[in-house]
Amino acid sequence: MVSGGARAVARCDALGVPPYSDMAGGLYRGYLTPAYAAAQAALGGWMEEAGMAVYLDPAANLVGRYEGTDPSASALLIGSHLDSVRNAGRYDGPLGIMLGVESVDALHRAGKRMPFPIEVIAFGDEEGSRFPAAMLTSRAVAGTLEAAALDLTDGDGVALADAGVDVGTYLSAARTPGSTLAYLEAHIEQGPVLEAQGLALGTVTGIAAQLRYQVTLMGTAGHAGTTSMPLRRDALAGAAEAMLAVEALAREDSSDLVATVGRIDALPGAANVIPGEVRFTLDIRSGDQSRRDRTAENILDAITSIADRRGLDFAATLVHDLPASPCDPQLMDLMDAAIAGTGQPAFRLVSGAGHDAMVMAALCPTAMLFIRCKDGISHNPAEHVDPADAQAALQVMLGFIGKLGETFVAA
Ligand code: GLV
Ligand code: MN
Ligand code: MN
Repeated sequence: MVSGGARAVARCDALGVPPYSDMAGGLYRGYLTPAYAAAQAALGGWMEEAGMAVYLDPAANLVGRYEGTDPSASALLIGSHLDSVRNAGRYDGPLGIMLGVESVDALHRAGKRMPFPIEVIAFGDEEGSRFPAAMLTSRAVAGTLEAAALDLTDGDGVALADAGVDVGTYLSAARTPGSTLAYLEAHIEQGPVLEAQGLALGTVTGIAAQLRYQVTLMGTAGHAGTTSMPLRRDALAGAAEAMLAVEALAREDSSDLVATVGRIDALPGAANVIPGEVRFTLDIRSGDQSRRDRTAENILDAITSIADRRGLDFAATLVHDLPASPCDPQLMDLMDAAIAGTGQPAFRLVSGAGHDAMVMAALCPTAMLFIRCKDGISHNPAEHVDPADAQAALQVMLGFIGKLGETFVAA
């Protein structure tokens, strides 16, 4: 018989191709796209088979609920995200959801109810790969989203309001403080630490602080054959210099600080036209928030100087500012104990990648379990996880849920 961990991996694989992907020959599943709806339909079926009642919340997150012995008790939420980056790996996000489903399935098959309900939640927008926002759906659930943040348009000019959600009721996805016992997220590590340690699993201590900007440089579009070099206001050449400054300033810092320009669009985008406008994303992270903010200021100052020298106009819009998010110390101890309970050494590590857990920390205590991924590769189709490691993670999640139950009864 296939283990629950192997089935979780196989389900992620099944969702890695059309119709669960919006891209032929690879995986891209954007929030509220046809692939997103198809993946929700498949997931809803798996949730029902595992004994859950399924519903869609006002932010179009799919939720499966497994009642506990006391339906009025606050729920344990287990989740991760169903959306992906473009040309993604198959496990970043979905694996945590599938392992949540398998956790409930194991309880259901054993005829076991916890003293609290368990809800498995598949968040819709964590990556920010469709709309210029990220963690939109967990922010809605955590109650940290403001109505103005819903005024979003994707790269094809489709407004969020026309994309299949009701922006008038969107914020009612917020859960009331106190209604959620804890949030548990299992996720591939997306880095090389566990592999280097020879460990399948680790307890996450916290998530690095993130800043994300949308940067625009405006020059003058002109004829590539007739505009002499001194007369040009080339926004793309300016952006190239700006990107090198981003890299240099981040490299100057020998801590965990990282800065990335991940997407760039040059307009009008023709071989014979000097680019008049360039838009690019800027993502800056560190476990130390003040270090992150200091570097962000230095980077924005450097781009301002480059733009001034080149006669370009420059604007940077803050897309998000997520503070560093420590996981709950008591839940970390429970996770360590659950790992040790399966005969594996407990090991703690920090997350440089962002996760819905960092947003959910505003609502309730959070816990994260990292699962080794091959060569630390993620946000890449080569992403790979060993089904045996996923099975080990499932055992730990069940141990964690059991220990949370004991703590809950004792409290
Ligand atoms: C999500 O994958 C992020 O870290 O940006
Ligand atoms: Mn990701
Ligand atoms: Mn992820």
